[in-house]
Amino acid sequence: MKVNGVDYRTVWMQGSTVRMIDQQRLPHEFVIVSLPTHQHTAEAIRAMVVRGAGAIGAAAGYGMAQVVLEAPAGTDYATYIARGAETLRRTRPTAQDLFYAVNRVLAAAQAAGSVDAARRAAVAEAEALADANAAAGEAIGRHGADLISDGARVLTHCNAGWLAFVDWGSALAPIYAAARQGKRVFVYADETRPRCQGAMLTAWELAGEGIDHAIIADNAAGYLMHRGEVDLVIVGSDRIAANGDVANKIGTYEKALCAAANDVPFYVAAPTSTIDPACPTGDDIPIEERSEDEVLYISGKTDAGEICRVRIAPEGARARNPAFDVTPARYVRAIITEYGVHAPNALPRPR
Ligand code: MRU
Repeated sequence: MKVNGVDYRTVWMQGSTVRMIDQQRLPHEFVIVSLPTHQHTAEAIRAMVVRGAGAIGAAAGYGMAQVVLEAPAGTDYATYIARGAETLRRTRPTAQDLFYAVNRVLAAAQAAGSVDAARRAAVAEAEALADANAAAGEAIGRHGADLISDGARVLTHCNAGWLAFVDWGSALAPIYAAARQGKRVFVYADETRPRCQGAMLTAWELAGEGIDHAIIADNAAGYLMHRGEVDLVIVGSDRIAANGDVANKIGTYEKALCAAANDVPFYVAAPTSTIDPACPTGDDIPIEERSEDEVLYISGKTDAGEICRVRIAPEGARARNPAFDVTPARYVRAIITEYGVHAPNALPRPR
């Protein structure tokens, strides 16, 4: 997608350096960061400089390629690779794409006949994963656009646009594709407390693509659905269990319940790399709990142009901060992947 007329991917590799858009600085500043080692890349994933399942996956794939490039060729080679993979796996527990990418790059390196061949194979696999991620987003857009009629009002939660992938996105891809087909689309972007990915990132992306939209407080969605002002909901996913249960940003489950109560179709868009056949149901999906500070404080830009963080809760107040929830498959009308639109109980397998 373009930023100020220039084509960008969310994350890419230049030599042995991983480069990415710093999503902590958006929407107020557009900054590219350079990460020279896999430890830097792992920390960027953990701290949410890069976030969104697909982008995390691509970053982890590149991080794993860095591990293989850095590994000393002698007897410590295998130990270095195993430790590096573990460092990356420990960054964020819910996003299935992270584990998918680390395992794929690791397997490509292990299948090579020499250390030099392993280094080439790891980089090539990480690049192939990033390309596949962008292509999946475009295909999801094509399939999902058929579900959006001219004049539709779509509600989305969190950010599952191009920033959450290498390009295109998942939940926002059908909206971008529909708009490029000439359909008029209006988007309600849930602000998505506590990190406000909807208010900060989705709104920034939609403005960049010229899509008409309004940010709503998270608790306004039920009101709008009840009034008939939402035609469909499309959300992304961080991990989909084998039975079609869907983990996504905290608050998604409530949106699904509201949609069911008001006969609003609820769609999930995700590439097959997000499907985890080893998780039988949503109860088996590990849910990340993040720092309570994300709930107790909020960051933003003052009218004087200063970026700052302020405490919004009383001194001494405690908080809970589960980052994801699980929506049971029965509330999901269909799941849009790069292969088409599927019933949640008839999902294709990741390849
Ligand atoms: O915690 P984040 O920002 O990495 O959360 C991931 C997400 O962006 C969402 O849950 C999203 O809706 C699906 S991931 C493409």
